[in-house]
Amino acid sequence: MNVLVVGGAGYIGSHAALALKRHGYEPVIYDNLGAGHAVLAQGFELIVGDISDAGKLAPILGRVDAVMHFAAHAYVGESVINPRKYFQNNVLDGVTLLNAVLDSKVRKFIFSSSCAVYGVPAKVPMTEDLPRVPVNPYGVTKLIFEQALEAYGPAYGLGYMNLRYFNAAGADESGTIGEMHTPETHLIPSAFEAIRGQRPALEVFGDKYPTPDGTCVRDYIHVTDLAEAHVLALEYLAGGISQAVNLGTGHGHSVREILSAIKRVTGREVPSRMAPPRAGDPPELVADPTRAEHLLHWKAKRSLDEIVATAWKWDERMRMAKK
Ligand SMILES: NC(=O)c1ccc[n+]([C@@H]2O[C@H](COP(=O)([O-])OP(=O)(O)OC[C@H]3O[C@@H](n4cnc5c(N)ncnc54)[C@H](O)[C@@H]3O)[C@@H](O)[C@H]2O)c1
Repeated sequence: MNVLVVGGAGYIGSHAALALKRHGYEPVIYDNLGAGHAVLAQGFELIVGDISDAGKLAPILGRVDAVMHFAAHAYVGESVINPRKYFQNNVLDGVTLLNAVLDSKVRKFIFSSSCAVYGVPAKVPMTEDLPRVPVNPYGVTKLIFEQALEAYGPAYGLGYMNLRYFNAAGADESGTIGEMHTPETHLIPSAFEAIRGQRPALEVFGDKYPTPDGTCVRDYIHVTDLAEAHVLALEYLAGGISQAVNLGTGHGHSVREILSAIKRVTGREVPSRMAPPRAGDPPELVADPTRAEHLLHWKAKRSLDEIVATAWKWDERMRMAKK
């Protein structure tokens, strides 16, 4: 089966392409390389193009059986400052892609949604039926695209999965692909930048939250576990009903716990300093992954230490490559 991995030269998409290949699928990567990297698509057919380009997408969609849609802008802070950029790419251009899919024979669509659709959750761990009340424009764009799929699905017979990721982290065990964001805002690679002196110190945003050590708690999910869930979602779509599914481990870790894990795994202390809490940052975001277990027969397998170890291995490799 051929699968179009849109945004497959990015962090999560490249891991999904690799997982698909390992399970016998034939992924084709489509990416404008705006935030992606050709090096992450090595070993795959890479078509450089934008999701707004329906003319370019049409012939490619003619030779695939399913689409995984990872392409989006994904910085919460930037979405507050420049929402236009987010609504254009994540909603308008995303719907252009969706319409191009409808104009083809493809009827399986997997969407990279986010726990940001829930906003500040009414309860933790978070189940899929919680109200979706995003608290920033990025989350709103993800919610709108989910809603487009909810309307298109029954109207046009499009099978879809809204996969709501929690915090993707880590890298493929091979050390060949990993996270490459510029600027980097995710906790673990940002902590590595602090260790390497590429930033003065890691900023810890707030330590007065109602959590055991006062710092924010998040559900860190290994990117390979996440990637494998996509393969299972594709298999589920062959016979199942379109769904929204949380992808997380069900366990939260505070910022301080992550810094301890980094020390434990790498032997290096993360230089850090306290910074004011960020507006709209919920104290705790942890998935209830029960639905993913039931529907996809999927459970996150990799531990926090494996997340840190694989991320560190990838970071070391990138550092050597730059020398
Ligand atoms: N990283 C996380 O923890 C996380 C959590 C929740 C949801 N998500 C979602 O998962 C998806 C992937 O995230 P990521 O961390 O891999 O991001 P990423 O920036 O590494 O990857 C996104 C890829 O999409 C491409 N792209 C963006 N706009 C495009 C366009 N108009 N046309 C063609 N290609 C385009 C980029 O070049 C990039 O390669 C995003 O949709 C993001 O919102 C990520």
